[in-house]
Amino acid sequence: MENPNNQSGQQTSVHVSVVTTAPVVATTIKRSRPAALTRTTATVTTVLMMLVGLLSFSNLAILTGAAAKQAPTKEEATAHFPSNLYLKQLVAGDDIALVTPKSSSAERNIFSLAVQMKNFVYLVGDRETGEAVVIDGCWDVDGIERVAKADGMKVERFIATHYHWDHIGGPIKGRGMNVPGVKEWFGLGYKVSMPKWELEAAAHNVGMPAEGIDAIDEGTVISVGGFDLAFLHTPGHSPGSMVIQIKQQQTQQGVQGASVALVTGDTVFPGSCGRLDLPESEPLKMWDSLQKVASLDPQLPIFPGHGYSGWGSTVAHEKESGLLRPVSNHAFNRMMGISGEL
Ligand SMILES: [Fe+2]
Repeated sequence: MENPNNQSGQQTSVHVSVVTTAPVVATTIKRSRPAALTRTTATVTTVLMMLVGLLSFSNLAILTGAAAKQAPTKEEATAHFPSNLYLKQLVAGDDIALVTPKSSSAERNIFSLAVQMKNFVYLVGDRETGEAVVIDGCWDVDGIERVAKADGMKVERFIATHYHWDHIGGPIKGRGMNVPGVKEWFGLGYKVSMPKWELEAAAHNVGMPAEGIDAIDEGTVISVGGFDLAFLHTPGHSPGSMVIQIKQQQTQQGVQGASVALVTGDTVFPGSCGRLDLPESEPLKMWDSLQKVASLDPQLPIFPGHGYSGWGSTVAHEKESGLLRPVSNHAFNRMMGISGEL
């Protein structure tokens, strides 16, 4: 998918992302690049999208508006982490969703799709108490449990950043596939939490009772060991999308209540934001949501919902070269091709 704003090739720098169930093809096109190459890139990505033949629910082709700078490495961005913070970014094909000779045909298909979708699953907890939660923990419930157990952690709760099937599981329309996720965690006796705006629909989609799901609201705090997960409502990609702010509960090295990281779901990606062209998207609200994230501590690492463009970023880096940089609501909407009340 080529951003219509780039058709003339007049933009300074364009980040083109094609979002499918397969790996997103993303490239940065500078002004000096010939328009023909831009068209070639678009053609290649379009063909890839056609091959996969299925839309996903992740990031939108976005104009970054500035030459992409090297994002900090994960090691650099997390150097300040307190020693007792357990924050594991699980990658399908590497950490979970691993095919074995015992894998069924259905499981192989799901794991293959998980690798293509590049969804990140997060385990967050306190190494000292061994308590953990899983965020967007679908695709391979057993595998996620195995990783936590091997690390000496006990998962207590499933939390969703939003209700899309690649984050909570459920049936995939037209594919005859069912991704394990929140329903399976609930069935195993775990507590589950989901944004209140999407709770009913999520329960309906996966086929579980809504009464079994704890509602997350703006300002909700869920504690896990010595850390608090504070929830920020960031609608845009979906009505209930949340960004999760991980905070220290206790004084650590003289700092009390300090934020240490963000799990941004499909709201903020390195150099882009979540797709706004889905039926339930609320594109006019995304700018406000991005301002909310941009107002947070610049040093905070950003852990996104997919690995289309690397492990993640920091608020500071996205304020410099991503969509957290200062841009008016009007300019943002124009950039996104959004019409309507500003
Ligand atoms: Fe999504």
